[in-house]
Amino acid sequence: MKKIVSFLLVAVMLLSFAACGSDKNDFDIVVVTDIHFAGREHFDYEGYFAESNDTNGSGKQMKYLDDILDAFIDEMKTRKPDYILMTGDNTFDGAKESHLALTEKLKVLVDEGITILNIPGNHDIKSTAFIFPDGGFEETESLTPEEYREVYANFGYTGGISYDESSLSYVYNTGKGVRFFMIDTNATYGLLYGEIIKEKYEWLEKELSACIEAGDVPVVAGHHNLLEHNPMFNFGYMLNNSADVQELFAEYGVNLYLSGHMHTQHIAQNENIIDIVGGAFSVYPHRYAEISFTDEGWTYESKETDVVSFAEKIGSTDENLLKYSEYGYNFFYNNAYSQGLDALSEVVTDKELLEKYADFSAKLNVAYFGGVFSDLDLSIAEQFLKDSSGTRWGFYMDYILMDTKDNVYCQWIYANE
Ligand SMILES: [Fe+2]
Repeated sequence: MKKIVSFLLVAVMLLSFAACGSDKNDFDIVVVTDIHFAGREHFDYEGYFAESNDTNGSGKQMKYLDDILDAFIDEMKTRKPDYILMTGDNTFDGAKESHLALTEKLKVLVDEGITILNIPGNHDIKSTAFIFPDGGFEETESLTPEEYREVYANFGYTGGISYDESSLSYVYNTGKGVRFFMIDTNATYGLLYGEIIKEKYEWLEKELSACIEAGDVPVVAGHHNLLEHNPMFNFGYMLNNSADVQELFAEYGVNLYLSGHMHTQHIAQNENIIDIVGGAFSVYPHRYAEISFTDEGWTYESKETDVVSFAEKIGSTDENLLKYSEYGYNFFYNNAYSQGLDALSEVVTDKELLEKYADFSAKLNVAYFGGVFSDLDLSIAEQFLKDSSGTRWGFYMDYILMDTKDNVYCQWIYANE
């Protein structure tokens, strides 16, 4: 296993891969996760839900998500990856209408010849979903697993070589020496947790065995995480039976697992496997990842959706889109800043210091979810932790600070042994 320590090393190794790789089995994929799409008519843009999302939520950029997705789709039309893998939480709250609006948008990429393989996250099926008539809100229909299979028929639920009867998991054979195991990791639809339940586990083992016997390499994707990325994200994030699944993967030589759910751009590894969590597409800087497979191994690089170039290209007059790097950052920063102010106001009475801590924690939060800590000034971290000790916000930031010590979350390279 080789860990990337610098971008220069990546570039050098990519060149060496290109030089010795055989064309026959080379292909590129894009991975995108936690899109949380709602579409303009399916989100309460002015009311309580929007206010709550914008000031107290997880930083999802709902107002411009439709435009950001258009920018992504435009980039994909140019890049033309062989496959796009979507690792769940396709919709904001699982509303049937949102699923339909999303698939309608993504259809253009399928029509361009790109194979899209998708699985559900915890927000997609049997979820509590809302619509917002006349300034109010009322519950609306989500999807059953059977309906999900139908809505996403052209996004993985046809063309696979095996479909699990106990879940929405399936195997797709690229025919280029790699099989994608798209695993529906939901333990129970409508709840947060992930688990490879008994029936699913037996199917998975049978399919992994068939993959190895055929001489193919298994690459596994699921919404929930396989490894511990941060002690804060264990229960409800890692698979309930992660230890068993790790053993199974080790037995069948799985070395790459792709996940989402945490919304952070993050990479964890043990002696056998690398678990890469993609940053949520719905959250600034709206990440997706490119993975190139060759006979020699694979390279991973996370990218930011270029909203500004797309806004200029389509002649948008919306200043927020034309200056999106600033707008998107500020939206996410302000979201955390207001939560920091609120959470620390009882323990930090000096206004200037309180604002300084809110500023520090907002910058730290943006860096954590984006997977890039390089521009962060950590000089007040120790004082911040001391003064925020005992608060929920201080506890949260303490866990985030653990990750600043290992700042390689956006690139990886793996060379086959
Ligand atoms: Fe999510």
